[in-house]
Amino acid sequence: MLQESFIEKVLVVEDDRTVRDYLYDLLRIKGYKVKTVSSGGEALHLLSEEYFPVIITDLLLPDILGIEILSYLQKQDLHTAVLIITAHKSVDSVIDALRRGAYDYITKPFTSQVLLNRVARAMEKIRLEEMARGLSSKIIYTTEEERQRISREIHDAIGQALTIIKLTLKAIKNKYEHVRDLPGEIEGLAAYVEETMEEVSRISKDLSPSYVSEVGFPKALHLYIETFSKKTGIHVRSFFPEGLFFQSPQQETYLYRITQEALNNIAKHSGATEVEIHLTFMNNQILFSIADNGKGFNGAPEGQKGGLGLLGIRERIAALGGNICVESVPNQGTTIRMEVPYDSTKSFKS
Ligand SMILES: Nc1ncnc2c1ncn2[C@@H]1O[C@H](COP(=O)(O)OP(=O)(O)O)[C@@H](O)[C@H]1O
Ligand SMILES: [Mg+2]
Repeated sequence: MLQESFIEKVLVVEDDRTVRDYLYDLLRIKGYKVKTVSSGGEALHLLSEEYFPVIITDLLLPDILGIEILSYLQKQDLHTAVLIITAHKSVDSVIDALRRGAYDYITKPFTSQVLLNRVARAMEKIRLEEMARGLSSKIIYTTEEERQRISREIHDAIGQALTIIKLTLKAIKNKYEHVRDLPGEIEGLAAYVEETMEEVSRISKDLSPSYVSEVGFPKALHLYIETFSKKTGIHVRSFFPEGLFFQSPQQETYLYRITQEALNNIAKHSGATEVEIHLTFMNNQILFSIADNGKGFNGAPEGQKGGLGLLGIRERIAALGGNICVESVPNQGTTIRMEVPYDSTKSFKS
């Protein structure tokens, strides 16, 4: 959801009382909400209860190393900019901290202006990133809501109309039983209406956000591929491990939607004859790939032509905390490779 209010909170982790009080006053005057702690242990405790977009910390704390705060933030997947305060001599440890995800560093002694500039920059970075995250999840959420609405409308309006047509045909058939050839023709038409009703019901179900978690990813995808291949003549092979386990209904639903979008693109743009879909688990990751043997494309055309398909795929992967790479070789095909974090201790059966 879109973050309505972003609170500019700073946590100062500093064992030197004078520095700590100085930072506290400086930041408070600038309008930040500030909390201070004097040890790493206190910092970790506070972070488990409260979110801070920006943390200022010394690398050498009395109980733990500042690095451990970075590991904690990473493990908890907290979206925080960490500013390291350091003495000149510890260049190696600063480089190490930056490698481990610290945002920036300030060398002692520093002026209040330098510190405030760095904090403002860090805060702005996190604020913008949070806003972007909020917007992408809002796009996905709105799309799902819209799908639900269309699903209901198709089911109610078209489904009902078809039922009436079917009943009317039955009545006509009974009434004109004696007219030569007519009952047979009506029966053919009724069978066609029946098929259309099934198709409408399938489309409506498929659009419903809870569909995939209800029938399970393998079955939902299998049914989708079957219809896709029938319609397009494109041969799709899919490879999944036995007894698929996902982390959440969101994870399997998103991977399903991604596959739908990728297959739509393949049908629309690629001219491919073959598609391979692979899903495997490796080192706490789901590795997922969709490859076609079509004409491929150059560069990064997504979004530029107003298309939202590939962007939507990226958004969903980002929402799942994963990575994506689209490789396309002209005249050889396109492969979308995705990695999504997977914690095997938290799975449920699909
Ligand atoms: N499998 C593919 N094979 C060839 N070109 C593709 C493939 N997938 C995507 N593209 C190219 O990328 C563009 C962007 O795709 P997308 O973001 O889904 O938008 P749209 O499908 O609405 O054009 C397409 O217009 C097409 O040129
Ligand atoms: Mg598309």
